Amino acid sequence: MSKQQCLITGADGFIGSHLTEELLKKGFHVKALSYYNSFNNWGWLESIPKHKNLEIITGDIRDPHFCKHIVKDIDIIYHLAALIAIPYSYVAPDSYVDTNVKGTLNICQAAKESGNIRVIHTSTSEVYGTAQYIPIDEKHPKQPQSPYSASKIGSDMMALSFYNAFNLPVSVARPFNTYGPRQSARAIIPTIITQIANGAKSIKLGDLTPTRDFNYVKDTCQGFIAIANSENTIGKEVNIASNYEISMRDTLELIKELMNSDIEFITDEERIRPANSEVFRLWGDNTLIKELTGFKPEYSIEKGLKETISWFMKPENLKKFKSGIYNI
Ligand SMILES: NC(=O)c1ccc[n+]([C@@H]2O[C@H](COP(=O)([O-])OP(=O)(O)OC[C@H]3O[C@@H](n4cnc5c(N)ncnc54)[C@H](O)[C@@H]3O)[C@@H](O)[C@H]2O)c1
Repeated sequence: MSKQQCLITGADGFIGSHLTEELLKKGFHVKALSYYNSFNNWGWLESIPKHKNLEIITGDIRDPHFCKHIVKDIDIIYHLAALIAIPYSYVAPDSYVDTNVKGTLNICQAAKESGNIRVIHTSTSEVYGTAQYIPIDEKHPKQPQSPYSASKIGSDMMALSFYNAFNLPVSVARPFNTYGPRQSARAIIPTIITQIANGAKSIKLGDLTPTRDFNYVKDTCQGFIAIANSENTIGKEVNIASNYEISMRDTLELIKELMNSDIEFITDEERIRPANSEVFRLWGDNTLIKELTGFKPEYSIEKGLKETISWFMKPENLKKFKSGIYNI
């Protein structure tokens, strides 16, 4: 890759903080955007050692003036900043449109005006909804089963429209469910691990029948970088997937086995989603990313879970999570 100056939006978050570390390891200069707040808290960027090639800035992608200001001298933008929780999108959908759709518009407009900067826009497997066929390739219909999904479909189309209308070099990276160190306890895997690690006798979860295609965060980051590296991905939507499925119940059993736990499972009605909103089956086809970039995932679910569990088991990490409550 000849591009040297990267901007990562959402660098303060779960995937963005790992991507920041990966790009620094590969010798890139990284401008890492952390969401502005009055505490000057940089989220997970607080956990990353200082690096001469790392510049942390704070701000808000909802502001078009700010977006124009931060893309100066940038060669490539990894746009990950978003509101991502499905349950919160039921109660605050306006903010999802502002952040995910309008924020993406602001980033693309700034990239266009600042000299056609390469943009890797982040989508999600949630845009597909429950699989109509498996494995899900990029031609699968999109089904907005939640305001979150709808806002991501809107943001993906906004990003692609900048390729179609203005030839902005945009790729849409579409990760399937990603897990690993630092993930919010809203998500199923950290919810299970943190409750077991805190010594709970029983665990509260929602419906355990849905299946997911889980990806270890290091694989997801390599997928992003592979997409950025390949000009063949410009103007395309590209899955980052492991190409398998596992049910939530089997995931729970696997974690129990790896943590040597006999914890009991209790259904928490609060966590059950409306029937038409629950995505029952996700299994991603990764043929396109393999063909276009040569990328293939390296982590089995067992290997990824072992690394994840060992990170969460460290007291200094575990204490950062509110495992006893339902985080939306
Ligand atoms: N975690 C997954 O399983 C998964 C799967 C597929 C796609 N994705 C996508 O990957 C991206 C990163 O997700 P994540 O899991 O790391 O979530 P995350 O919530 O940890 O990270 C998103 C970050 O965006 C920042 N942000 C939110 N609003 C902002 C604003 N207005 N201005 C600037 N920053 C803002 C937040 O501070 C947050 O740290 C998202 O686009 C998400 O849709 C995630």
